[in-house]
Parts: sequence; structure tokens; C-alpha cells
Amino acid sequence: MNTDFTYENPTTIHFGKESLNNLKAELANYGDTILLAYGKGSIKKIGLYDQVLSILKDSGKNIVELTGIMANPTWEKVKEGAQLVRDNKVNLILGVGGGSVIDCVKAISVSAYCEGDPWTKYWLQFQPVDNEIVPVASILTLAGTGSEMNGGSVITNDDMKLKMGRVFPANVYPKFSILNPEYTFSLPKYQMVSGIFDMMSHLMEVYFSGEDDVTSDYLVEGLLRSIINSAKIAVANPEDYEARSNLMWSATLAMNPLMGLSKPSDWMVHMIEHQVGAYTDCAHGMGLAAVSLPYYRTIYKYGIDKFARFATQVWGISEEGKMKEELALAGIDALEAFCKECGIVINLKELGATEEMLPDIANSTILLGAYKKLTHDEVLDVLKTAYEAV
Ligand code: NZQ
Ligand code: ZN
Repeated sequence: MNTDFTYENPTTIHFGKESLNNLKAELANYGDTILLAYGKGSIKKIGLYDQVLSILKDSGKNIVELTGIMANPTWEKVKEGAQLVRDNKVNLILGVGGGSVIDCVKAISVSAYCEGDPWTKYWLQFQPVDNEIVPVASILTLAGTGSEMNGGSVITNDDMKLKMGRVFPANVYPKFSILNPEYTFSLPKYQMVSGIFDMMSHLMEVYFSGEDDVTSDYLVEGLLRSIINSAKIAVANPEDYEARSNLMWSATLAMNPLMGLSKPSDWMVHMIEHQVGAYTDCAHGMGLAAVSLPYYRTIYKYGIDKFARFATQVWGISEEGKMKEELALAGIDALEAFCKECGIVINLKELGATEEMLPDIANSTILLGAYKKLTHDEVLDVLKTAYEAV
């Protein structure tokens, strides 16, 4: 049965090849000083930096820059950005890049005027935001996280060896996001397929929980089918606009409260991966793939109907002549075959993990879970299997 919910989505999406044309009109809604935040240079290589800078100048804005936001953004980087916001009285933070840049600008937004230590208050204690926040907007260059239309902000504290995710309420969502699928053409295949698994994982985290037959299940199945289809096309031809645009919009929808509003969800794969990321700094989507396969093979028996449905509705596997268990396992096998076909890494060693790290990763993982709540020992078994995966 659908549970009660309230849904609010305040992000304006400008989607398509000409979507950057909307930037000037959007900027008119904000004050004079803009913090332009970006990563380690990809936006300069694709010419986007020059285009954005010219629109900002044309709009008469004062421009402050925060550069070098790293994949898996750190708390140190957030503090650097918060200082820039305070020093320059920034009116809007414009993040241009992938999920790391957009997560980082949301963290800067809530931290700049926080009294006390924002890391403890917002990422360790999950307290509500009660200080001034600075509006945030984004121009997306990597499809995967959904950060462009949600309140998620995942930050790594290197000193504490913790990667913590926080979902902020609607007033922290980007006010507007510009999504031009052509910006993703330049992504290395490794990053493209990592993003593809990430968006799939967001959907599976919602799907593998609960026993009711709710609209969310059908939304997830449809999006997963669209992603699987477009992923194969994009792997073969990265400049196929239709495939890249399907992937971009699917990613935005996939990691949005919209998908799982009315039902329970899991998020255990993300919990384990975040700690894998804290120790290895691996690409998020690759870490998710490595964890997902052994995790789902551990829990499928506790949600066997949904895993069997996954096989038939997502992968098109015929139920004829199969016991439910066989069908459920065939769905997970199909997921593995898809990873291999697309070049998604499923081995933790390849992602930088060492055998010694595994117990620490298991012990520092926050245990959630839906069909089955794992113990730390079971998490360790999942990690060991992912470490040996071929
Ligand atoms: O730094 P630059 O030069 O921009 O290079 C980036 C980076 O090296 C590169 N890149 C991005 N767009 C490109 C490009 N290279 C060429 N052409 C382009 N168009 O790709 C690399 C990875 O970028 P990153 O932003 O780190 O990737 P992604 O979008 O996958 O973000 C991952 C981060 O988001 C968090 C993850 O944990 C991780 O920290 N997540 C955020 C979520 C949310 N906000 O809701 C949910 C997710 O589950 C996830 O946890
Ligand atoms: Zn994710």
C-alpha cells in the first residue's frame, strides 16, 4: 500500500542542446556576486567555462571562483568555499560539473553561515538547517548522481575516514539546473559507465524493499529498461544524442525523492560503498557495482518475489520452467552480465581496496537494510566476495 507523503520539487530544469540560453534570465533573479565552482578542468577542455564566464560577465556579475573540487569532495574543500562565500558576500553559488561539484556547493551553501561546526551538526548529527543558506544552481556535465534536482550532499572527511551523505530539504535543492546532454559527450567511458551504474543503483535501492505492488515499482522498472537500452547504445556510440539524453534525464529522475516516496527503501549498497569510497577514493558507481552483486546474492531470499519480478520485468527473462529462486538469481546474473558488457568494474581490488582495509570498511559502515539487516560480519563477507570477484 502506498504510504502518505508530501512531495515538493523546487528545481527548475532547463534541458536540451540550447538550455544554456536560459542562464542569463535565471541570473537576473540573484544579486551581483556569483561563486563559480567547478572541478579539475574538464569544463575548460569542453569550452563550457568560457561560455559560462561570458554570460556571467554579460550579466554584469562579480565573479568569484572556487576551482579544483575533487571527485568525492572533501570537508576541507567545503570549508574553503564557505570562506569565499563569507568574504565576498556571495549571492548565488553556481556549480558546473558532476555530482561532486554539485554536492560540494550545497554543502558550502548550508555551512557558510552555520554557527558551530557544520560537519558535526549537519553530517554527523543530521540536525535541521537553521541558519542562512546561500542559493545554489547547477550546470551538469555527468549523468549519474541526480544531485542536480535533489538535496543530496555527500562529503568525505579525510581525517575521520568517513564519507557521509545527507539529504537536505527543498530549500537547499538547486534553484535551477541546466542539463545539456552534449556536455557529457566528453566523459571518459570509465566515468560514463560509473554514472550509469549509479543511476541504476538509486533505482534498485528503492525497488528492493517492500512487498506491495505500488506505482513506484513500475516507474523503476521503466526507467531501468530505458537506462539499460540507452547504456548499450552510448557505450557503442558515446555521441548518440538520444541515448545520452535518455541517460541524463533518467539519472535526474532516478535519484529524486519522487521515485520512492510512498514505500520503504534499502540504501545498504550505498552505505557500504560510501565507506569503500572513504578508504579507496574510487569512482562511486564502480564501487556500487562491486558491492551490489554479492549483496543482492546475500539478501535475495528475503525478498524473493521482488527479485523474481526484477528478472522478468527489467531483464525480460522468461519464467517458463523456472523455480522462483532460479528466476531471482537469473536477474542478478543478468545485472552482472550487463556490467561486464559495459565495462563496469565489479572487483574491489581493481578499485584500490586492499585486504587489510576490508574489516575497517565493514566496521565503519552504517547498517540500514530492508529485506534483511546485515551484521558487520555479513558486510565483511560481501566485501570479501567483491574483492575476489572476476
Ligand atoms: O573534476 P573534473 O575535471 O570536472 O572531472 C570530473 C571528475 O574527474 C570528470 N568529469 C565530469 N564531467 C565531465 C568530466 N570529464 C570529462 N567531461 C565531462 N563532461 O568526471 C570525474 C568524476 O566526477 P564526479 O563529479 O566525481 O562524478 P559523479 O557525478 O559520479 O559524482 C560522484 C559524487 O556524488 C556523490 C558520490 O558519493 C560522489 O561523491 N553522490 C551524490 C548523490 C546525491 N547528491 O544525491 C547521490 C549519489 O548516490 C552519490 O553518493
Ligand atoms: Zn549513488
